[in-house]
Amino acid sequence: MPFDKYTKEVWKGSVITSPLPPTLVTCGTEEKPNVFTVAWTGILCTQPPVTYISVRPERYSYGLISETGEFVINLATEQLVKAVDLCGVKSGRNVDKFELTGLTREKAAAVSAPIIAECPVNIECKVRDKISLGTHDVFVADILKIDAAKELLDEKGRLALEKSGLLAYAHGDYFALGKRLGNFGFSVRKKNKKRKKH
Ligand SMILES: Cc1cc2nc3c(=O)[nH]c(=O)nc-3n(C[C@H](O)[C@H](O)[C@H](O)COP(=O)(O)O)c2cc1C
Repeated sequence: MPFDKYTKEVWKGSVITSPLPPTLVTCGTEEKPNVFTVAWTGILCTQPPVTYISVRPERYSYGLISETGEFVINLATEQLVKAVDLCGVKSGRNVDKFELTGLTREKAAAVSAPIIAECPVNIECKVRDKISLGTHDVFVADILKIDAAKELLDEKGRLALEKSGLLAYAHGDYFALGKRLGNFGFSVRKKNKKRKKH
């Protein structure tokens, strides 16, 4: 069956993305914590596990991350969408965003920044490099620890993240994830063969 096609207009280079995770990034210390929303994030390397966040230098959080060299990427869910938006429009310079949103901070295993209890996964990161690109600087970071929700572990210990209602952000809008269409390698997999990790 042929697929649908589009005819195109060519525009100058700009940022249009496919869905990204609008994450809650925590930074600072137990005494001076902050949380802000970051959608410019992703994975750079599987082994060693390396991630990045892209941050404008004028953000209050930028200074905190530069001071400690640490932060946590907390994955957000549908339930948290209003908190995600609030943390992305208010600054920790003027307001305590934990108080404002009601999000609960807890001690992380390996970094000074707190983790958020309401997020199903917390990714504890240590900065290894900073790249200045223009409007944003990219913090490239090693993933030191993952805090995974016990409630989402199945009997085999697999994290059933699909049950958590993860949020997506595309072209200025927040979305709940839609229906599952397949999994990695399903297009070539023979029936009853095990899932392959990538
Ligand atoms: C959905 C969404 C995504 C955002 N993504 C980023 C991002 O990737 N990088 C960034 O520097 N700011 C991003 N922001 C803006 C910051 O979260 C916002 O400026 C925030 O108020 C900064 O907080 P702070 O001053 O407490 O650090 C985003 C905001 C929203 C609402």
